[in-house]
Amino acid sequence: MMDPLLEAAIDARGKAHAPYSNYKVGAAVETEDGEVVPGCNVESSSFGLTVCAERVALGAAVARGHNSFKSMAIVSRDGATPCGACRQIIWDLCGNLPITLIDEDGKRETVMSGDLLPKPFDHRNLAAVDRPIEDPSGNS
Ligand code: THU
Repeated sequence: MMDPLLEAAIDARGKAHAPYSNYKVGAAVETEDGEVVPGCNVESSSFGLTVCAERVALGAAVARGHNSFKSMAIVSRDGATPCGACRQIIWDLCGNLPITLIDEDGKRETVMSGDLLPKPFDHRNLAAVDRPIEDPSGNS
């Protein structure tokens, strides 16, 4: 039996809306309480409006009320790592968590989100003495 997280990411990739790049990406995030929330990339004819699979999955999970995450999976043709914008959002919402990358042949590699974004800008930079901002990832 395949890991439900990987299965969800593979299934979501099949739903990707990528008519302009034809580069389909599926993602899935596992919440602290074990729910799996999928996402796929959604492209626009105004190319810059495109949203990545990772941010669709995380946005959907937040909209369902989740704010703590255990792991992610990302499926693409070549098992690519997330783009820079997604690395920031993943760090903000998830903190340091394992991300399994899967390519079209099923080849897997697991990386840590913290290794993908060394020396991050995050909530700590925004903290003030009279207005503390808690870690929004819920992990530390
Ligand atoms: N894409 C993702 O969905 N996730 C990534 O981490 C990299 C890029 C999408 C955006 C666009 O629809 C297509 O892949 C090509 O850049």
